[in-house]
Amino acid sequence: MDDLKELRKQFLLHLGRAEDSSQLQNLRSRYLGKKGEITGLLKSLTSMPPADRPAAGKEINELKDFIENQLNRHLQKIHSREIEGRIQKESIDVTLPGPGSEIGGRHPISLVLDEVIDIFISMGFGVEEGPEIELDFYNFEALNIPRDHPARDMQDTFYINDEVVMRTHTSPVQVRVMQQRKPPLRFIAPGKVYRCDADISHTPMFHQVEGLMVDTNITFANLKSVLESFLHSVFTPDTPVRFRPSYFPFTEPSAEVDIGCIFCKGSGCRICKTTGWIEILGSGMVNPKVFKMVGYNPRKYTGFAFGMGIERITMLKYGIDDIRLFYENDLRFLGQF
Ligand code: PHE
Repeated sequence: MDDLKELRKQFLLHLGRAEDSSQLQNLRSRYLGKKGEITGLLKSLTSMPPADRPAAGKEINELKDFIENQLNRHLQKIHSREIEGRIQKESIDVTLPGPGSEIGGRHPISLVLDEVIDIFISMGFGVEEGPEIELDFYNFEALNIPRDHPARDMQDTFYINDEVVMRTHTSPVQVRVMQQRKPPLRFIAPGKVYRCDADISHTPMFHQVEGLMVDTNITFANLKSVLESFLHSVFTPDTPVRFRPSYFPFTEPSAEVDIGCIFCKGSGCRICKTTGWIEILGSGMVNPKVFKMVGYNPRKYTGFAFGMGIERITMLKYGIDDIRLFYENDLRFLGQF
């Protein structure tokens, strides 16, 4: 009996010192385990006189239950204390300031497109837009490119169906505007265009700015002066500009415009293919056939038109050698502008 009292006291002492669940686990095996104190006592019953066994057994079992209950209660307490502690430690201070978010930048194409638009606005041009999914009529036919015309081969077209295409240039906007208004006209048409083409200098979608000026007495001299002013503004005022005879079905005469290579300053390099010049836009005097298509009198009115690719201008301005970089969305590239 005294032994049991002593054991109970000793257990309570140990229990009081146990601070976490692993220490409790140790206590459990020390008292209730296979080689534990209580188990030992129960085994020792066999060496007692049979008459004493029931009473002693009862006492030992009571102590066993007591120890078990105490261990369980303590375990629960320790568990909730441990959970409490974890909650405290892992709590989030919602009043702390956030990590801050990065402010995005504008895409280089948007930057240059806006710059080009601003230059033409400063020269008195308006801005017009048209659909990207365009009727074959506006994209080709009204621009003097009939169905079987070989000039259709100049532009690899995405056809939606026989009558509808993804526009291959922004020139159809000039037809749409001329159909709706009478001269004088002076506007540009910026926007996305589509051609079935993809390599280091072509993407299936790219941006163009088309320009049109129509009035009585518009001459090639007006075309030259507007385009020279523009190119000196978007590049540098001392950039050499040259007009080279060319062909477009919707202009006559037509000219391609080159600038002196801005990389080698004209001495010849890889970018200008050693010619010292870089082709930058197409232009010409509006073909009288186009005027007839939209109901203008070609004897009364003359005009000029031009068209340029914004990707190309952006590549030249920033020295970018692969057009695909614009559309890969690599932030290391985009973050530089
Ligand atoms: N539309 C032509 C092209 O995309 C460019 C151009 C526009 C040429 C206007 C002359 C006049 O290639």
